[in-house]
Amino acid sequence: MHLHTRSAFVAGLIGITGLTMSVTSASAQGGDPPVPAVAVSSGSTLLGVYTDLQATRGEAVFQKSCLECHVPSDYQGDAFNSKFVGGTAFDMFESIRIAMPQSDPGSLPRQQYADLLAYFFKINALPAGTSEIGIEPDALKSIKVEAKDTLAVRAGRMGRPAKTPRNGIHHGSPHIR
Ligand code: HEC
Repeated sequence: MHLHTRSAFVAGLIGITGLTMSVTSASAQGGDPPVPAVAVSSGSTLLGVYTDLQATRGEAVFQKSCLECHVPSDYQGDAFNSKFVGGTAFDMFESIRIAMPQSDPGSLPRQQYADLLAYFFKINALPAGTSEIGIEPDALKSIKVEAKDTLAVRAGRMGRPAKTPRNGIHHGSPHIR
């Protein structure tokens, strides 16, 4: 491989000048593994895992980066239940982060994906709490996505009336003839 040969050569030259490369980083990993937190409460979206302010930020993210192709009702009620309920907040965070926005997946700051989660919880009438949902994988994994009664969610549908989806853009479950 040209590149490797060349960079080894360059590294050699740099070595001669006395510059140390980052060869010590491997030894930094030899320490004790982090002690697993014992008393992580396994949270639930029914317990208030986001704040209203965060959901408001999430709504702005949705309008800026998602509304072009999705309407909020894509993520409400039954749609929310079938797409996200039963998994963890981490599953939800990652599935969105990895794939969306479709034109540039993963392009938003992680904080904005967390804010989107807060927004989706809010439009499903899940309770807000006193702390925001964060971006730490372990914390996200400790939160189970659970839903209130689907009918109650429908009755309390929030936000503006959904735009009529244009053909080909709305993509719920596949239509089975
Ligand atoms: C350019 C259009 C476009 C944008 C912008 C976009 N999406 Fe999507 N999204 C799609 C398409 C198309 C699919 C279906 C892809 C598939 O099924 O493989 C999809 C699928 C999804 C899904 C999977 C579940 C479902 O609804 O079928 C989620 C969740 C989702 N998008 C969330 C988002 C969020 C959140 C944003 C904003 C950050 C966003 N999308 C931005 C086009 C888009």
